[in-house]
Amino acid sequence: MLLELKNIHAGYNGREILRGLPLNINAGEIVCIIGPNGAGKSTVLKVISGFLYPKKGDIIFKNKDITAMESYKRMAHGIGYFLQGGEVFNDMSIYENLEMGGANIKKSVFKETVEDTLNLFPQLKNKLNKRAGLLSGGEKQMLALGIVLMAKPRLLLLDEPSAGLAPGLVKVIMEKIVEINRSYGTAILLVEQKIGQALKVASRGYLLKNGEVVFEGLPEDIRRAITKRAVHA
Ligand SMILES: Nc1ncnc2c1ncn2[C@@H]1O[C@H](COP(=O)(O)OP(=O)(O)OP(=O)(O)O)[C@@H](O)[C@H]1O
Ligand SMILES: [Mg+2]
Repeated sequence: MLLELKNIHAGYNGREILRGLPLNINAGEIVCIIGPNGAGKSTVLKVISGFLYPKKGDIIFKNKDITAMESYKRMAHGIGYFLQGGEVFNDMSIYENLEMGGANIKKSVFKETVEDTLNLFPQLKNKLNKRAGLLSGGEKQMLALGIVLMAKPRLLLLDEPSAGLAPGLVKVIMEKIVEINRSYGTAILLVEQKIGQALKVASRGYLLKNGEVVFEGLPEDIRRAITKRAVHA
């Protein structure tokens, strides 16, 4: 197992949001977290990336307890985090943005990592000297994902990578996610509002409600569980 969350309790300002969360991901898997607004999906990713420390529970990554580890060390350890909304350095060029993402990888693999990243997002290739702030929304989202990939993560946490994108681009970004997973064997934890799209690419998923896992299983079982819940709501 690559990542295991055991009985995670976490929240903000004394208010508990996650109530005893279990979650696990195997190496090379794509797993999705589905749930209504405010269910705690982003909070799960913050806990895994170290942006929020749990009040209780353990986080095991690559057989090591990382519960108390700082977020920058988790990144160096192989956890990549795409924040909700995506983040780029607007005043820097696209190339400089990628440099920032790869700041901690070995110098010897830097060049090939830039090449791999640009092959994945070819539309960025001929704009390397352009300021990131001048990119379109879709291009920024791709660059934000590229920055995270430059750190060569073993586990990629994606918080609504398709948010705000036109339907055509949503499809593209989902294809990229599958391509990253297939090409590098990167495990992916995907949080998505677009349930249909997420269940199409994931091999397993968690249904989260009020900070609790209310269902866990294969995509088709999750689809059925959602329909059943909607009927009984
Ligand atoms: N920084 C924060 N400070 C205080 N409360 C917060 C903070 N971030 C989130 N919350 C609260 O925690 C709860 C869960 O939020 P979270 O962002 O994890 O939900 P989500 O499932 O990602 O929702 P969405 O689908 O809208 O992105 C919400 O009630 C939210 O208001
Ligand atoms: Mg969220």
